[in-house]
Amino acid sequence: MSRLVVLRLGHRSTRDKRVTTHCGLVGRAFGADSMYYFGDKDETVENSIKKVVENWGGDFKVEWKQDPLQFINKWKREGGVCVHCTMYGVNINKMQGELRRMLSKKDIAIIIGASKVPLDIYKASDYNIAVGNQPHSEIAALAIVLDRIFKGKELVATFKDAKIKIIPKKEGKEVSRIEE
Ligand SMILES: C[S@@+](CC[C@H](N)C(=O)[O-])C[C@H]1O[C@@H](n2cnc3c(N)ncnc32)[C@H](O)[C@@H]1O
Repeated sequence: MSRLVVLRLGHRSTRDKRVTTHCGLVGRAFGADSMYYFGDKDETVENSIKKVVENWGGDFKVEWKQDPLQFINKWKREGGVCVHCTMYGVNINKMQGELRRMLSKKDIAIIIGASKVPLDIYKASDYNIAVGNQPHSEIAALAIVLDRIFKGKELVATFKDAKIKIIPKKEGKEVSRIEE
């Protein structure tokens, strides 16, 4: 089974805590296996994501790494593919079929930025893909790319060892809690 990971570049602990945490939560909820983040190491982000995993299940991992280019080059040497999300790229509508076919054979790293992404990353990536050619958000870009790859199946996934589970309802809230 191929792996799909998120690479979150350029985390700034002064201003990106919430956005980077949401990148991790979106990655987890919508089918990624792990998020590697770069920039400032930030235990607040790591702990928030780990807490969600502890309560809501699955084995999504979050890990800080120092050098994105080194990571990308190693990932590619080991046979993985790198897909960089950028408004300057090729529209996802043209790429989704290829991404799906690729995941059946190879590990995929989806790269999302924070502030300006260095040109080296564009060059090192196998694909630069755009979720439309307008500026918006890494959280939105990641969510849409994952949804296009998994075709909505990620929205009905269950997570092993969950302590909290929602019982979907038309009205009101029902939550089942599994006591240890
Ligand atoms: C808030 S944007 C900042 C981008 C920065 N101004 C630059 O020029 O690289 C942060 C990230 O959101 C993602 N993003 C924003 N708009 C996008 C789009 N239309 N398609 C794909 N990804 C997008 C990219 O990964 C980008 O690095």
